Amino acid sequence: MFDLILRNATLPDGRSGLDIACRDGTIAAVEPRIGAEAREVLDAGGQLVSPPFVDPHFHMDATLSLGRPRMNVSGTLLEGIALWGELKPEQTVDEIIARALRYCDLAVSMGIGAIRSHVDVCDDELKGVQALLEVRRQVAPWLELQLVAFPQDGVLRDASALDNLTRALDMGVEVVGGIPHFERTMEEGAQSVRLLCEIAAERGLRVDMHCDETDDPLSRHVETLAFETQRLGLQGRVAGSHLTSMHSMDNYYVSKLIPLMAEAELHAIPNPLINIMLQGRHDTYPKRRGQTRVRELRDAGINVAFGSDCVMDPWYSLGRACMLDVAHMGLHVGQLSSREDMRWCFDAVTVNPARAMGLEGYGLEVGCRADFVLLQAEDPIEAIRLRAHRLAVVRGGRIISRSAPVTHELRLPGRPEALNPAAYAPKPATPDAG
Ligand code: FE2
Repeated sequence: MFDLILRNATLPDGRSGLDIACRDGTIAAVEPRIGAEAREVLDAGGQLVSPPFVDPHFHMDATLSLGRPRMNVSGTLLEGIALWGELKPEQTVDEIIARALRYCDLAVSMGIGAIRSHVDVCDDELKGVQALLEVRRQVAPWLELQLVAFPQDGVLRDASALDNLTRALDMGVEVVGGIPHFERTMEEGAQSVRLLCEIAAERGLRVDMHCDETDDPLSRHVETLAFETQRLGLQGRVAGSHLTSMHSMDNYYVSKLIPLMAEAELHAIPNPLINIMLQGRHDTYPKRRGQTRVRELRDAGINVAFGSDCVMDPWYSLGRACMLDVAHMGLHVGQLSSREDMRWCFDAVTVNPARAMGLEGYGLEVGCRADFVLLQAEDPIEAIRLRAHRLAVVRGGRIISRSAPVTHELRLPGRPEALNPAAYAPKPATPDAG
């Protein structure tokens, strides 16, 4: 007797007609037509079943605070940081908890199973840290929340940031963050990277740094991040988030930089929705896109994972916890339009971020955690094209969210009465041709 059997699933790798049986919170079998009984049966109807979406870069202490205390008029990263500085002293731990829990509910319903959230430690009361540690505890049964100690105002630029960051790590925050391009000088930026990587190495922690989130082609802190990663033996445990200056860098320099990043086994975490909105604000025309070099990083063997960064906060007024929106934007901005590239964009919001975060038991193989999402789409490309509706979300072998398929009731003479948007996809004659 199984706890749950999901029948007739199509997997992201193209295998179809498979049943997934779950017992005691893990996947016990993935086979065609499993004969055994189960307490609960879910019919996938041949639709796509994916391991959960994973958001490797988010700011949960700021989410859903849009308009407080005012709107970001210039739309820039810097006004967003200034606005966040105005909001911080006003907010309470309870408010942050309430907003974060609302966001987590939304995220779960949208099929997100894990989030890495930066939490601002530039606050002597560490209100965000207190709040998100409590949220992490409360949501643990259905959402894995990984926290990054993030010195928003600069670990060297802000007098108490280092002390606060250390206290946050002592309280149980598990990843070391940073923001070298916001320090006062290039030298202090490099020094901050060294210092923060040393703290991580001493404590056996991972690193995820906001790195070079600027249009300045001379912002090269990712080079120092790669160097320190190797010097301290942190290979595979360090991520560079945003990396937008790489968009504007000289090609010759990049031809040296990317192999250094690959050697250090850095993970790259672009945030397409936010950076297409924030970057290039000092440009007239042509206006730079500001997304890092996704294709080139990936082709060099670097693990690239897309993050969502912000939802309705001082930096971004939109967002709905949809990692398919993120993949859709990353695909467009990176011009990743071949069928192979589009399928890869689905990996960039599922398996790649799971790897960047070091998630255990992630996937759809036997022995993995019984966590998955059923989408109203036939394959990963269709899922991105339609930003597919989430039909069911399963956590630990239990259905935790469900919704009816989307159909439009058409009222046109001589036309079909029910229209399913997913049924309108022609099948390419040569599926793998660009
Ligand atoms: Fe960020």
